[in-house]
Amino acid sequence: MFGGQPIALVLAEDWETARFAASLVHIEYETDAHFTNLLTERDNAFVVQKPEKPRGDAAKAYAAADVRHEAEYFVPMEYHNPMELFASTVVWDGGGKLTVYDKTQGVQNVQRYVCSVFGMDPDDVRVMSPFVGGGFGAGLRPQYQVVLAVLGALMLERSVRLVLTRKQMYGLGYRPATIERLSLGAKDTGTLDAIAHQAIAVTSQFEEFSRNDTGWSDLLYKCANTRLEHRLARLDVPTSADMRAPGAATGVYALECAMDELAVALKLDPVQLRLRCYSERDQTGDIPYTSKQLRECYRQGAAAFGWEKRSPEPRSMRDGSELVGWGMATGVWEALQMPATVRIVLTANGHAEVASAASDIGTGTYTIMAQVAADMLGLPLENISVKLGDSTLPPCPLEGGSWIAASVCNAIANTSADVRKELLGLASRMKDSPLAGLAPEDVVLSEGRIVSRQDMSRAVSISDAMRYSKVDQITLEKANSFPADDAHARNTHSAIFAEVKVDEQLSVIRVTRIVDAVAAGRILNLKTAHSQVMGGVVWGIGMALHEEALTDHRFGRIMNANIAEYHVPVNADIHDIKVIFVDEPDEIINPLGIKGLGEIGIVGVAAAIANAIYHATGKRVRDLPITLDKLQR
Ligand code: MOS
Repeated sequence: MFGGQPIALVLAEDWETARFAASLVHIEYETDAHFTNLLTERDNAFVVQKPEKPRGDAAKAYAAADVRHEAEYFVPMEYHNPMELFASTVVWDGGGKLTVYDKTQGVQNVQRYVCSVFGMDPDDVRVMSPFVGGGFGAGLRPQYQVVLAVLGALMLERSVRLVLTRKQMYGLGYRPATIERLSLGAKDTGTLDAIAHQAIAVTSQFEEFSRNDTGWSDLLYKCANTRLEHRLARLDVPTSADMRAPGAATGVYALECAMDELAVALKLDPVQLRLRCYSERDQTGDIPYTSKQLRECYRQGAAAFGWEKRSPEPRSMRDGSELVGWGMATGVWEALQMPATVRIVLTANGHAEVASAASDIGTGTYTIMAQVAADMLGLPLENISVKLGDSTLPPCPLEGGSWIAASVCNAIANTSADVRKELLGLASRMKDSPLAGLAPEDVVLSEGRIVSRQDMSRAVSISDAMRYSKVDQITLEKANSFPADDAHARNTHSAIFAEVKVDEQLSVIRVTRIVDAVAAGRILNLKTAHSQVMGGVVWGIGMALHEEALTDHRFGRIMNANIAEYHVPVNADIHDIKVIFVDEPDEIINPLGIKGLGEIGIVGVAAAIANAIYHATGKRVRDLPITLDKLQR
């Protein structure tokens, strides 16, 4: 059992009656010992992930290092808090068929789940989620409300809607509280000899959930000796979950604070330290990256921030009654791509419908799909309509891991290539066709026409080609295809520079400026990309200063299960955020050079702020959030 676990469902004709009736349910519990505190349960944690083999001998190298830094960092339980509550509306279509409107990051995933739980046929369960009011990972797993709503609909043979309360949202998954222990050993010239990274994270009594917290410490910097370990502590809580940049948000926070502390010990500028440890190769696999413009991120970020004006001593910069601190950190995330299929229906009037069972959780998936399709099909943007969030559409993975842009857009490219081939076939058939004899790779689709690459005057309009053969529409469906490539590492990177101002008497902290320079392959849409990264930075500010689910361990219950007391940044907390996209052409990763952006925006931000707070105050707070009471201690 755990606080927030669903134990009964009350259904009524209307919401108010159901809520009232639920308040009348009397439950008697047998009490049992419970454990909800990671800090007291850390010694019972078990090893869940170890690297295949440690690199070199980290303990020996650490002992022999000129300069050492070892410390523990802590990230508390944090919640996704999407504005939209989790909710499911199950429409009873008769004959045992259901249409389920669900808040989810993957309609086909929910469909598979419902079918497996209730033994239903996929043809009888259609899951819809055309718009999602925020997900951040909370909607990756089907949540319990969809199961309960389907159960109710099947039992009553009628439609059921179930909406969670904000408090109930705190009974779902969360970013696991994690203790991160980092040991760094370096030469006095500022190169790394040893990195050891141990993570101890929370999971439930009934499932093991863990993500890659420690691998980043192995991957990122040049270092011959590394040792990693990931442990899990079972607590009487729900299972922890993916939350924006799972693993990296916590693990890289610790690594990048530790690097800052090492820089202090070395009396070296923090950017300089990163440059001395810079690696052109993935250190884990000892392979090159498809592209890595992190050096440019440091350079452009530092220039835009004005980093060269930093005076290195803590407490050496001021603005009136406030201490000023400048800190920086590196961010890193994966550039993943997954199988996805896209269907294009092109009609003779020059309109194309592009469809895949993807989600748009506010990231701009609709927009970039339309853009890429318009470009590939040579049609104006307004002639493209995009369909997604419907389980009956061609297969698509969950929207997560920042992989949707690369996955879906490369599927659009493949399908569009087939459309072009089909259109060329039709055009070539025309009497005295100007395109006769050309191969598909000899033509492009542009401005509603099929055009020879060599000679732009050789062209046939798409409409004419289709009408000539009396074809009203062309419907084609194709998956993406990525060459198998184990020879390259695929990652996105960022350099974050933060300015804080801390009131000297009251310790009130303001994050007055952030510059985040991001290298993430081809940027498809500056506006949606900028919003993604800016949102990640805002969340990084929340992580650094505000966010924390507080449990009363006597009762095993969260005390601040609402967004009045679980503080997320509001407008007043946010000042100047500048996002820079560093040019990063990538001809290896996939045909369109796309890497994805949803998650890199948060990684490293909390570390840059924590480092800035140290620089401002001379006080190192390693457990998040950095609240003013911790600075006053
Ligand atoms: Mo994200 S945590 O991959 O939805």
